[in-house]
Parts: sequence; C-alpha cells; structure tokens
Amino acid sequence: MEEALNKQVNAELYSSYLYLSMAAYCETQLMKGFAKWLRLQADEEREHAMKFFDYIIEAGGTVKLAKIEAPKTGWKSIGEVFDEVYEHEMKVTGLIGGLMDLAIKEKDYATRNFLGWFVKEQVEEEAHASEIQGKIKMLGDVVGHLFWLDHELGKRE
Ligand SMILES: [Fe+2]
Ligand SMILES: [Fe+2]
Repeated sequence: MEEALNKQVNAELYSSYLYLSMAAYCETQLMKGFAKWLRLQADEEREHAMKFFDYIIEAGGTVKLAKIEAPKTGWKSIGEVFDEVYEHEMKVTGLIGGLMDLAIKEKDYATRNFLGWFVKEQVEEEAHASEIQGKIKMLGDVVGHLFWLDHELGKRE
C-alpha cells in the first residue's frame, strides 16, 4: 500500500507538471484565461500530491520521491489540450480506483477512508474537464470564438 501511495505522489506531481506545460502552450496562443485555469489546476494537483505525502507520513510510512516524467510541450489546438485534460483525469480516476481496490484487498480501513476524498474529488475533476471540453466543441475550436471562453475561465480564483 505504501509503495502504491508513493507512486500516486509521483502521478499527482506529473499531473501538475502536465497542466503547467499545457498552461505554457496556452500562453503562446495568447489564451491567458485557459492558461490561468491550467496554472491553478497545476497548483491543485500539487496539493493532491501533498495530501498523499502527508498521509504517508501520518500513517508511519516513508515518503520516497521518484523522478517526474517530462510532459509533452506542443499541442495542435486548445481543443486538443482539453481533450487530453479530460482523458488524463479519467486515467487518474482509474489510478485512484486501483488504490481503493488495494486498500480493500489489504483491509486497510484507514487508507480506504483517506481515499474517499479523492474518489469524490475525481467526480468533480472529470465534470469540470468534460464541461470545458464540451464548450470548446460547441464553439468549434475556432480561435475567435474561444476568446469568450478564455475570458470566462480567466475568472477562476
Ligand atoms: Fe489530482
Ligand atoms: Fe486532477
């Protein structure tokens, strides 16, 4: 369980890194609002990593930080970025599910309880990503149309 939780620290930090790379791409497209949303998302992923980090310590385990894989740096369009955000969140939901399966198998009730927060969080994460992806599709992934959505996402605090 401890090893799997350590892997999730890495996966959350990778998510943070990926969203930061996506934010950088949006900046090059002058989409400051999308970039801001992704920067804040990157911050959230780092907070997720820290929740696992703190839990491992609190549960008496050892945190073992590993190398973080480099994310890609180029996308074809804002639409492609958000297709990948949604895909990535679904992948993370699968990882959380895998951790939950292991906690159940090992009768690790404390970790099951800890993971409950993430199960709920992933429902929100997928919903947000899929909403933005859907709006981009409705706008036709056309730069001129996307400025309205860019403005909306720039309001995220
Ligand atoms: Fe996360
Ligand atoms: Fe996430």
